[in-house]
Amino acid sequence: MVVLISGAGSNMAALMEAAKDPDYGVEIVAVGTDREGTRGIEVAREAGVPTFVVPFRAYADRAEWDTAMSDRIAEYTPDLVVSAGFMRILGPAVVGRHQAVNIHPALLPSFPGAHAVRDALAHGVRITGTTIHFLDEGVDSGPIIDQVAVPVEDGDDESGLHERIKVVERRMLVDTVGRLAREGWTVDGRHVRFGRTDTKENR
Ligand code: GAR
Repeated sequence: MVVLISGAGSNMAALMEAAKDPDYGVEIVAVGTDREGTRGIEVAREAGVPTFVVPFRAYADRAEWDTAMSDRIAEYTPDLVVSAGFMRILGPAVVGRHQAVNIHPALLPSFPGAHAVRDALAHGVRITGTTIHFLDEGVDSGPIIDQVAVPVEDGDDESGLHERIKVVERRMLVDTVGRLAREGWTVDGRHVRFGRTDTKENR
């Protein structure tokens, strides 16, 4: 798989750790990013994983950037793209060509977008969490694969709550991606289940 990141890369690091075990069933063939200078891309380089950078500002518009990103991903012919803390919206060039999953630090469909933890706190919810879902052409709107709830504590701030979410998120990501790789998956409308079927749409 190809993993896409924009920041610290703690979720990517958890996947890299899991992938050391051959029984896990996953090989990370490359890590891609939209920005240089992040801890995550350094960690990938230190681990000897191939990396690529597709900076948003280097392209005339979103469509050109999206096409460039899609082409770079395609060089590695991954079976799955994992957006793990990737902070830009992937458009039709990527989503139409690659099977991709995304993690999001809220219980979708609540609080989509770039500030999920802040938005959940501001709304006063008592329970939030994390979601892993397939990417479609909307924003955080694709079929949900798994979710884990995290209670909001009195006095939580954005960074403290996000750190607690990330602890359960890493576990969920490692578990779900491993199962997708080992068991395959079937998407039927909004419903995802593990296991392969023979129809053209499913793998
Ligand atoms: C994760 O919590 C992920 O869900 C979130 O960014 C964090 C990345 O952490 N993604 C989004 O908010 C996407 N909208 P990491 O870089 O330490 O893995």
